[in-house]
Amino acid sequence: MGALAERVATPLLPSDYVDLLSPLASSAELRGKVVGVLPETVDSATLIIKPGRTWKGHRPGQYIRVGVDINGVRRWRAYSLTSSPERPDGNLTITVKTIEEGLVSNHLVHRIRTGTVIQLDQATGDFTLGEQRRRKQLFVTAGSGITPVMGMLRGHSEDLEGSVLIHSAPTGRDVIFGRELRGIADEGRIELIEIHTDRAGMLNPANLAAMVPDLAEREIRACGPTGMLDSIEAHLETIGLAHRLRTERFRPAVVVTGEGGTIHFTVSDVNAQGDGATPILDVGEEAGVLMPSGCRMGICFGCVSRLREGAVRDLRTGEVTTATTGDEIQIQTCVSAAAGTCQIEL
Ligand SMILES: Cc1cc2nc3c(=O)[nH]c(=O)nc-3n(C[C@H](O)[C@H](O)[C@H](O)COP(=O)(O)OP(=O)(O)OC[C@H]3O[C@@H](n4cnc5c(N)ncnc54)[C@H](O)[C@@H]3O)c2cc1C
Ligand code: FES
Repeated sequence: MGALAERVATPLLPSDYVDLLSPLASSAELRGKVVGVLPETVDSATLIIKPGRTWKGHRPGQYIRVGVDINGVRRWRAYSLTSSPERPDGNLTITVKTIEEGLVSNHLVHRIRTGTVIQLDQATGDFTLGEQRRRKQLFVTAGSGITPVMGMLRGHSEDLEGSVLIHSAPTGRDVIFGRELRGIADEGRIELIEIHTDRAGMLNPANLAAMVPDLAEREIRACGPTGMLDSIEAHLETIGLAHRLRTERFRPAVVVTGEGGTIHFTVSDVNAQGDGATPILDVGEEAGVLMPSGCRMGICFGCVSRLREGAVRDLRTGEVTTATTGDEIQIQTCVSAAAGTCQIEL
């Protein structure tokens, strides 16, 4: 079975039924066993995962794709690694915050049980520090955006002394890893600035320089909701510090939507109605089409499929791509929506 075929959201595959006695021993596929679920806040939890033998390790700040079977269908999502690569027991952790009506996040936070075997991909992503970890850092995070930074604080604990972390959450109780972060700050290893947005409102990036007087000397890493990241990017551009900023986005920055249309998935012979805002990946999965996917936000090209006819719109740029009969134009279904009737070869 090819790697691409294994990555699609499918009913369970034959290989899932082998190695039943020793599910982590497979050399062909990476799996992990959930060995613990730790509630963090009212809507988030950390999963402790024992990876299979073929796990190659990770760098702090990277993420993994996790494949979980929900109602007989495998769903893949990306989660930042929150554990240190040097964790003594060799396990890894991800920390998931539910989103409203979120299929996988609610499953992982509220329903998954210790002992469940899940699919994993090797770690990937370039939201890492590398040699820059020796420079002064400012981390700006909100909500679940703390996760890759927690991975860095745990994995590079000595290098990151003197870092500043500005973290936003509705209240103090909603701060994921609140106790650990406050502990690190109390030891004087980092400066922690919490913004409790229910009372204080959202972070205004124009205030960053007042909050962090040596802002211009710091490398800036930000992870959080799209609106926060967009406003930080815009402000740092204005004050000439955009080159210092690196962001990690959990979903694509959608700038344009438009009229949709009927999507015909030619191999499955399924028709589905696509509005102009919903990625073709989501429309296809909802209609039961076997859709390849990866990061679901335009980075990995794991969802590339052929547009055989019709028009699709890139949700990040608004650019419309068209194909006429006989064309085989490749599109990323996770960041493309129907822009009229279209035919996708899936
Ligand atoms: C590189 C990377 C790292 C990530 N790391 C983490 C992490 O450490 N912890 C974590 O909790 N999540 C993380 N995510 C987000 C995660 O992959 C899922 O997108 C998230 O859990 C929602 O999946 P779901 O199946 O619950 O929602 P879905 O059922 O896919 O979506 C439900 C609804 O919510 C919207 N939606 C989808 N994703 C988001 C989002 N991130 N924010 C707001 N609305 C959304 C959808 O458009 C839809 O309307 C990461 C994503 C990426 C790309
Ligand atoms: S799933 Fe990664 S680019 Fe579309």
